[in-house]
Amino acid sequence: MSSSPVVTSVELTSLPKLASGKVRDLYEIDNKTLLFVTTDRISAYDVIMSNGVPFKGAILTLLSVHWFGVLSDRIPGLKTHFLTLTPPAALSPAEKDLVRARSIQVRKLKVFPVEAIVRGYITGSAWKEYQKSGTVHGLPQAPGLQECSPFPEPIYTPSTKAELGQHDENISPAKAAEIVGERYAARIEDLALQVYKAGAAYARDRGIIIADTKFEFGLDEETDDIVLIDEVLTPDSSRFWPADQYEIGRDQASFDKQYLRNWLTKEGLKYKENVEMPADIAWATSARYKEAFKLLAGKTLEEALSQL
Ligand SMILES: Nc1ncnc2c1ncn2[C@@H]1O[C@H](COP(=O)(O)OP(=O)(O)OP(=O)(O)O)[C@@H](O)[C@H]1O
Ligand SMILES: [Mg+2]
Repeated sequence: MSSSPVVTSVELTSLPKLASGKVRDLYEIDNKTLLFVTTDRISAYDVIMSNGVPFKGAILTLLSVHWFGVLSDRIPGLKTHFLTLTPPAALSPAEKDLVRARSIQVRKLKVFPVEAIVRGYITGSAWKEYQKSGTVHGLPQAPGLQECSPFPEPIYTPSTKAELGQHDENISPAKAAEIVGERYAARIEDLALQVYKAGAAYARDRGIIIADTKFEFGLDEETDDIVLIDEVLTPDSSRFWPADQYEIGRDQASFDKQYLRNWLTKEGLKYKENVEMPADIAWATSARYKEAFKLLAGKTLEEALSQL
């Protein structure tokens, strides 16, 4: 079984590398198909740590695959980029072992250059903005919200998709429509809200509040379909709160990298490059990701790995 050693970079020689993001390395299988490889790298405040989080690549990959199934069942007509967990034939046996469980083959699509953020609860930068101006991404909100209150209805609050090393910028839905074009903006917003609502309801039944999340969408230029791409509803792309500890009016415990963020802030390392996490922080983060996986997938990571 692969994926126990911590892997912060994957170098395949059998396929051309197309791109490397903060967490993923993308390889081209053919002109319609990508190998979407998730490393164990972790970023916080848009900065990548120098060491990785054990099992993170497999957790994010297998959790996204779980969601692609759940969401496709619940949202009629939903299109996703997921093709298969099976490593492509072009890889050598050693390369297959390296990417197994941490990679999927996906449809290569034209990525819309916005982050489709949906917020069900007010926290983080949204809470900061609301306290100052009563708005979130410039949108006026109901008065009297407390920290971590639910919004009366989930809201779509897009941001720009920054280049590596830059920070995403919160924008209004109107600005997002200028970026993606009027032709697609409303459909992206509607899909993002539908996927969030379906995912949040599923997670809530399993003890997790999905406070907010980020989706990415791509365009299938042949059919003009908008397709759900990237990772989906993971602890990297979302804020997961344990429902049994949830209380309005304060910061929440979390399953996600809030733990790492809090440590960076406490140590004065926020935004610093090349930070090495101490082993206890890396393993505690791993344990939180694993716990979220188990609650949402209904099985342990080890069980999921043994079923591959
Ligand atoms: N089906 C797809 N086709 C093409 N690109 C995709 C697809 N799904 C996801 N992507 C892109 O793959 C990349 C995933 O890499 P990763 O998550 O490491 O990036 P990131 O650091 O979050 O963002 P960035 O790419 O801006 O650095 C993202 O740029 C995402 O837009
Ligand atoms: Mg990403």
